[in-house]
Amino acid sequence: MRSLLFVPGDSERKLEKAFGSAADVVIVDLEDSVAFANKTAARAVAASFISGQRRQTSSAIYVRVNDLSTGLTDDDLSELVPVRPDGIMLPKSNSGQDVQQLAAKLRVHEAEHGLPDGGIRILPIITESAAGVLAAASYAGASARLSGLTWGAEDLSAAIGARAARDENGHYTDVFRLARAMTILAAGAAEIVAVDTIFPDFRDMAALEAECREAERDGFTGKMAIHPAQVPVINAVFTPSAEAIERSRAIVDAFAAARNPGVIGIDGKMYDRPHLRLAERLLARARAAGMSA
Ligand code: COA
Ligand code: MG
Repeated sequence: MRSLLFVPGDSERKLEKAFGSAADVVIVDLEDSVAFANKTAARAVAASFISGQRRQTSSAIYVRVNDLSTGLTDDDLSELVPVRPDGIMLPKSNSGQDVQQLAAKLRVHEAEHGLPDGGIRILPIITESAAGVLAAASYAGASARLSGLTWGAEDLSAAIGARAARDENGHYTDVFRLARAMTILAAGAAEIVAVDTIFPDFRDMAALEAECREAERDGFTGKMAIHPAQVPVINAVFTPSAEAIERSRAIVDAFAAARNPGVIGIDGKMYDRPHLRLAERLLARARAAGMSA
């Protein structure tokens, strides 16, 4: 999951474009990008589009449902589970318990439609409330359906009354940096991937690329997008480079050749177990991106 492109679920025109993009995941949105009056229509448009067009896309398909407090989640699942999305994005998740509640609902819907139990994954947005940020540790072990964790700044701003999430230089302020860091730590503790939040200025590719590079450096393995033009930039940054793959391969091979000791020297530099672990992670990411590694 390098790039995850949001598309409003009520726009056939955009759904068409999103399915034709190179996004690893298309997130069909029934939540914030769909007006309240349009929720019912959006479910029908999204469901018929997914069932009709899914063979034409190589992207995985996730559906962002409305959050558990809205009373809309069950209707979202009733209409969308039958078209077999790869996963559900859960917005405004307050803790691992919310994921478990969604997992229980999914189980019922899967059974009703004869789908394999546990087949549909869950990707929660874990920082959209103050309680959510503080409960980040609760995702570890919450559900085998968890495919990763991601975070968001807009709803958290509204929840805490922050007038802005970034300072005059474009850097996130403390609360948002904490939310971002909690997402990385929570994903590490849960042994799943961390996905970075959207970059809203969809014409500024240089700033997007810089933010992708920081995210990749810090441990995120992908980033959400709101516009198709952002997808190639994100894919490029989160695809391991040939040099990085070669370096990681050399580390893994050197450990294996030395019969897996605790520490080895390569070209006058020390490498111990954490270096091996990082190298293995990078090779796994490269393979997931379809490269030979
Ligand atoms: N998915 C698919 N297609 C998209 C798209 C998206 N996320 N965003 C834009 N496009 C399409 C547009 O429809 C347009 O196609 P057209 O020329 O055939 O009409 C083309 O790409 C160029 O779009 P552009 O003119 O640059 O942007 P816009 O002003 O039409 O749209 C947004 C701007 C922000 C409204 C749009 O990008 C969008 O809807 N993004 C997703 C929002 C969302 O889902 N938010 C929830 C998560 S935060
Ligand atoms: Mg939101």
